[in-house]
Amino acid sequence: MALNLEDIGHLLTARGVHQYGREAVSQLEHALQCARWAEKSGETAATVVAALLHDLGHLLAPGGDATERDDLHQYLAIPFLRGLLPDAVLEPIRLHVDAKRYLCTMEPGYWETLSPASQHSLALQGGPFTPKEAMQFAAQPFAQEAIRLRRYDDHAKVPGLATPPLAHYMALVVDLAREREGLLAAH
Ligand SMILES: [Fe+2]
Repeated sequence: MALNLEDIGHLLTARGVHQYGREAVSQLEHALQCARWAEKSGETAATVVAALLHDLGHLLAPGGDATERDDLHQYLAIPFLRGLLPDAVLEPIRLHVDAKRYLCTMEPGYWETLSPASQHSLALQGGPFTPKEAMQFAAQPFAQEAIRLRRYDDHAKVPGLATPPLAHYMALVVDLAREREGLLAAH
């Protein structure tokens, strides 16, 4: 079970034309805007790519917009990407929903900033963490990257916002995949 670089580009362009849940942007626009915020914020290539691919699970399992149940989309893409990209990409993706649960507990006023769709999905995803769960979350590797990714995610729902093209970010995906391959070959 693996995706190659071509598959990822295809998923984003072919399936990414669909609306992003109940938001006013497409899945591809959402992915590009999220990557753009990460890049503009000076994130590493791995975090920018995590931002680009954080909702790939929605594209792998289209059809449900998670209005009735938790779609667990943060986990869906992981096995498909594991052979291709490093943990620095995979872990922020895996943790980005928990990061919302964390921020709702730890940051007064955060919940109010969420879009109605995101507030709705929060309830399905288990609601805010307890303080103990929040501490356990924050202690995990890449939790801070996931929290920052979450903020880019929240701001990546702007209709008509100009972004670099997908090719700009796919070049980063290619670099990271090659780098990982090189490291594995060296061992
Ligand atoms: Fe998202």
